[in-house]
Amino acid sequence: MTVLVDEPAALRAACDAARASGRRVGLVPTMGALHTGHVSLVDVARQRGAEHVALTIFVNPLQFAPTDDLDRYPRTLDADLERCRAAGVDLVFAPKDGAMYAPGFSTHVTVADVTGPLEGVHRPGHFQGVTTVVAKLLNLAGPCVAVFGRKDYQQWRTLARMVRDLDMPIEVVGAPIVREADGLALSSRNVYLSAEERARALGLVTGLRAAWDAFEAGERDPGRLLAIASAPVEAGFDRIDYVALADPDHLGPLDLPLPSRVLLAGAAHLGKTRLIDNVVLGEDPRPG
Ligand code: PAF
Repeated sequence: MTVLVDEPAALRAACDAARASGRRVGLVPTMGALHTGHVSLVDVARQRGAEHVALTIFVNPLQFAPTDDLDRYPRTLDADLERCRAAGVDLVFAPKDGAMYAPGFSTHVTVADVTGPLEGVHRPGHFQGVTTVVAKLLNLAGPCVAVFGRKDYQQWRTLARMVRDLDMPIEVVGAPIVREADGLALSSRNVYLSAEERARALGLVTGLRAAWDAFEAGERDPGRLLAIASAPVEAGFDRIDYVALADPDHLGPLDLPLPSRVLLAGAAHLGKTRLIDNVVLGEDPRPG
């Protein structure tokens, strides 16, 4: 049975009760508009030993800039609950308005360094919003394991750093990206795309795939890898924020010669929709 709660105290009480009965708690934080990728996070939590899986649904205003899509972000609670029931989620926490940030809320969690490049350049303040809300959710639920999708690769590394630096006794797991049959990474924002934009959106994964093939064939020149990855993104998208190579652990610049594992990440716009995708060359399977 999937229980729905909307008060932070109820999330805490339910997870306390689960622990008291000897069950390991797993946490899957989401912003809702759930798709197969989110269900895979629940499966990964169970594989990592969670016996009581709590999934949170909260469109966190702190992580949206005024120009972002906070107002139009899809909110589909009834369908989300159906998916959670089908996936065997034990508890859904969907806080009502105002429940997460009391009037006068003035405490933020900031992770330096790993949040600086890539998304950090284009979405100032975004990661502080993410780390603040996830720290609150971890404090409420007290999970043994928390699972995040690797599509938001930098978010996953940032949250792992936060948990390590603050000595939170939690295993942070990055679950593999789930893709459509043609390679498009699943994202709640894909619903914004028109049919024509949906076709052009494949430029990101096409670029990652081409660079993956080149890397496998021995290409180690960063400029050539970036040119290979960028060409389909430039052809398909209206505007590119970045297509970049970075260290997969600290997200900073890479030393030359390139190491055996290299993060290739991209973010680009189609109309009003911003999509991201990535692959770790030398580690991940061929994307799509
Ligand atoms: O990845 C997301 O959906 C969000 O950034 C998260 C981790 C739930 C925090 O609001």
